[in-house]
Amino acid sequence: MKAIVVTEQAAGTAGMRLVKRPEPQAAINDVIVQVHASGFVPTELEWPSTWTDRLDRNRTPSIPGHELAGVVTALGYGTTGLSVGQRVFGLADWYRDGTLAEYVAMEARNLAPLPGDVDFTVGASLPISGLTAWQGLFQHGRLQAGQSVLVHGAAGAVGSMVTQLAREFGAYVIGTGRAADRQAALDFGANEFVDLGNDALEDVGGVDLVFDGIGGDIGKRSAGLIRAGGRLVSIVGPAEAPPAHGLAIDFVVESDPAQLNEIVRRVRDGRLRTNIGNVSTLDEAVATLNPKQRRKGKTIIRIRP
Ligand SMILES: NC(=O)c1ccc[n+]([C@@H]2O[C@H](COP(=O)([O-])OP(=O)(O)OC[C@H]3O[C@@H](n4cnc5c(N)ncnc54)[C@H](OP(=O)(O)O)[C@@H]3O)[C@@H](O)[C@H]2O)c1
Repeated sequence: MKAIVVTEQAAGTAGMRLVKRPEPQAAINDVIVQVHASGFVPTELEWPSTWTDRLDRNRTPSIPGHELAGVVTALGYGTTGLSVGQRVFGLADWYRDGTLAEYVAMEARNLAPLPGDVDFTVGASLPISGLTAWQGLFQHGRLQAGQSVLVHGAAGAVGSMVTQLAREFGAYVIGTGRAADRQAALDFGANEFVDLGNDALEDVGGVDLVFDGIGGDIGKRSAGLIRAGGRLVSIVGPAEAPPAHGLAIDFVVESDPAQLNEIVRRVRDGRLRTNIGNVSTLDEAVATLNPKQRRKGKTIIRIRP
């Protein structure tokens, strides 16, 4: 099969190569999925799991990509819940070969059915950004209707999902980002926008929840904005400065088929709009994943055109 591999962390996305690899075999409780579309988060090349297995042994050359939509072609020993020929989407294991390939072996429990009227490109754009937004707002952030949420990077892949889900839930959303992203953030439903390059973040006043997808100095300054009992939820590592009156939580997104069902239901009925940027074929993937211009939205590689 054709697959994108990486061998050297220092090379970043420029070190990606399109190669031929043997097709994967299904282990216990696995399925083999013929990948139709794959998502990719550029920072995944910084994660140790891209380079090693769970025992910290080098597993390169490894296949990156953890989001997919495709069709089940085989079941492993003892696998239940899915059948051959079924359309699926989901989040592949961090420590195994991923989805920038024609086939992937992954645990069936990490997949949800993809309804027939949802395009594979859309399906592949949802798992990481949708689940991260859902888990950050509702599980870790314990968002309540009527609360205020400060969403850093509100026009990004995760931030745009956070903004829409929080608004649907009845929150007041203040999005942040670069000046050029103001209109996009407002279009995704932000009530207000803070241009981090020109506006004073501190003018926001107090909020109940900060959803931080940027970190660094922005994360540090946000801690002071948390109201008593509020939460600073970070998806970019532990908060450097915990809030004085609230709780700081950082987490890594987990697979959850029930939440995937909720997310795709909202896409189908128009409550949730996915944020897709460039779409390219597997043959052009290396160039697309090394863009010459600023990337906007999620890059999707359409493995089967
Ligand atoms: N913990 C988890 O489970 C988890 C899950 C998903 C993602 N993540 C992480 O979350 C982060 C966001 O992911 P994503 O896929 O949403 O990325 P993305 O699509 O690039 O969105 C990030 C947004 O924030 C903006 N931004 C970044 N730094 C900024 C700054 N200093 N000032 C103003 N705007 C800034 C970006 O603009 P520019 O493009 O112009 O920089 C972009 O619009 C990444 O670091 C990713 O690794 C973590």
